[in-house]
Amino acid sequence: MSTDTRPVPELAPEAVEQWRTEGAELVDLLARARRGVGGIAAFRLGPEPTVLVTDPAAVQHVLGRHPDRYVKRSHRARMLVGDGVLSATGDAWKRQRRLLQSQFTGTGMRRYEQRIAAAARRTAERWAGYRRSGETFDVGEEMRRFALDTVWRALTGLPLDDRTDRELRAVERVVAAMPKLPTDAADARDAVAEDLALVDAVAHAAIDAAREAGPTEEPGVLRVLLEAGDQIPAYTDRLIRDELVTLLVAGHETTATTLTWLFLLLDEHPEARTADPQALVSETLRLYPSAWLLPRHATQDDVIEGHHIAAGTDVLVCPYLIHRDPALWPDPERFDPARFAPGAERPGHLGAYLPFGLGARACLGTQFALRETTALLELLLPMGELAYVSKPKGAAYSITVRPDGPSPAVLR
Ligand code: HEM
Repeated sequence: MSTDTRPVPELAPEAVEQWRTEGAELVDLLARARRGVGGIAAFRLGPEPTVLVTDPAAVQHVLGRHPDRYVKRSHRARMLVGDGVLSATGDAWKRQRRLLQSQFTGTGMRRYEQRIAAAARRTAERWAGYRRSGETFDVGEEMRRFALDTVWRALTGLPLDDRTDRELRAVERVVAAMPKLPTDAADARDAVAEDLALVDAVAHAAIDAAREAGPTEEPGVLRVLLEAGDQIPAYTDRLIRDELVTLLVAGHETTATTLTWLFLLLDEHPEARTADPQALVSETLRLYPSAWLLPRHATQDDVIEGHHIAAGTDVLVCPYLIHRDPALWPDPERFDPARFAPGAERPGHLGAYLPFGLGARACLGTQFALRETTALLELLLPMGELAYVSKPKGAAYSITVRPDGPSPAVLR
């Protein structure tokens, strides 16, 4: 390494009072680090050196150019998603990603168009019922059901039934519990053992059903995984379970919270109702990128923009702060889908807008997510206006950033 590199400037230790800073406090700490120190800012959470990266060129260095130097550790998520593609690393990750990639891009993706459309129609039919009866329903809950229904159809080829829907609540309970679980892996597992067993039962029942059904004309992702299992020894039933749960976890809360935010933002900005659905989704993801913090771990000494990063450093890339940086996005707190209208001027740098991440480990479901959200909005937006009975007061920052309470509404 050259000798003219500098240490990363550090936020004064008194600014970091807490050892396990979480949620809104963590966002506040990160915002202070960026304001006070800059786009590459060090601070200490306990003994661990941590570097926050919000400078677009540095983001591209970490996520785009050197995913081998900055790896995922995902120790908490592993309890739920095991060795699925979200947490896998090295050659195993490469093989798993390649297999799934073919399902979620190009022709693979086209196979799911009909299923996405069917899930959107099902939600629209429910909303038509709410409009007729005038009953109050929860928008967040509706979006959760829709998003789970679409991934479930992509995975199994079948619509989500009420029982599976109920049982898969266990996934959310585990995800919600994660940030507060004991650090010891065995203790953490014990704390949510019942819910993990429920998730396993649903996954194994789906695997058995797909195996029994045999090859079909419209195979789901699960079928593809089973076929891999017949040919590649690494695809054990355990790994197939892990991929299935990974796709459920990665593919439903992210989409559901995005749509829930979108309807809340439209309530504040009724003039935006006529905007193009894709622009609405993009602008919602700018203000509330559901994966708001992307943690990495430096495997070797490195230099980012002249700053020395020691091996072992935890590096946090924060799309949430990047998307609200006034140097990149003028008047950043304002919801304005016109930013994403065709021909509108936007920051050109890849690292300036990354709701789906960046580089080799970017979201596998990007096209799927964009298709399902726009398909749903095309049906729901013309149906009428939501009148909220009450609204969440703010945001809860956990693994995702979501509205921090229920969102009951009636459809007029
Ligand atoms: C609006 C919805 C979504 C958002 C905002 C989103 C966001 C992201 C982000 C930021 C990452 C990268 C995480 C990192 O670098 O640490 C990611 C990864 C991933 N996403 Fe999504 N996602 C969404 C929907 C989906 C859907 C629908 C699926 C699947 C059906 C999916 C599957 C995955 C998978 C498997 C990964 C891990 C990829 C890998 O590590 O190779 N996501 N997502």
